Amino acid sequence: MEIEDIYSKLTANFLEQLKNQKISAIVKKSIQPYKELMSYYKCAMMEVETKFTVLSEELSMQYDRNPIESIRTRLKSPESIREKMVRKGYPLTVDSIEKNLHDIAGVRVICSFPSDIYALADSILDQDDIKLIEKKDYIKNPKANGYRSLHLIIEIPIFLHDHKKLMKVEVQLRTISMDWWASLEHKIRYKKGLPNSDFIEKELIECAEMGSAMDARMERLHNIATELIEENP
Ligand code: GTP
Ligand code: MG
Repeated sequence: MEIEDIYSKLTANFLEQLKNQKISAIVKKSIQPYKELMSYYKCAMMEVETKFTVLSEELSMQYDRNPIESIRTRLKSPESIREKMVRKGYPLTVDSIEKNLHDIAGVRVICSFPSDIYALADSILDQDDIKLIEKKDYIKNPKANGYRSLHLIIEIPIFLHDHKKLMKVEVQLRTISMDWWASLEHKIRYKKGLPNSDFIEKELIECAEMGSAMDARMERLHNIATELIEENP
């Protein structure tokens, strides 16, 4: 190989490397605001989770039982964010994501009895720093397919080193039986290639109704047990 050829190959390699570095710097810079937004949502989610944990601690001291069976949190994945933005026809920018999606940060609170759901929702909504944006009561008004839960979109401040930012969090409150139904219904319904089936739809509605009846029965038993203890201290 001629010396000129070696020289021009090295130069081309060097220029290619420089170009790649520039591209990766540009990508990094444009991804930064998205990463920041996600980290704010994560903080807001942790704040809400802590609020429920505090309530649970306090209520279990007061009433000798914990109304919260478990708390789960999840941050919407980049793929789901992208899919929802495209599906709803919103522009794919960080500002538009923050403005249009209210369920990036999700907190799911699984409660023992249906009345615990409303007691916990009232307590959290009573707090000074929480603002209710939207409430959907799928317990009083179940979805046609049988789905039951109480959904709240709330706004909560997070305190950063030099400013405060208001973030939206979706809270889903449900009993163990509502959660069990929702998890299994999701598994059944999203099975690959499942055609429409009236039988499956009817069965799912019936299972949801059975779950709801069991919730009511268990709550009644719990109330009777509490009264018996109070009458026989
Ligand atoms: P999307 O957020 O786009 O789904 O629409 P939306 O804001 O009208 O939804 P909604 O508040 O009714 O429900 C949002 C979330 O509740 C979903 O992401 C699920 O976690 C849960 N959910 C709602 N309906 C169903 C259902 O029929 N089955 C199950 N398994 N989960 C549901
Ligand atoms: Mg939603």
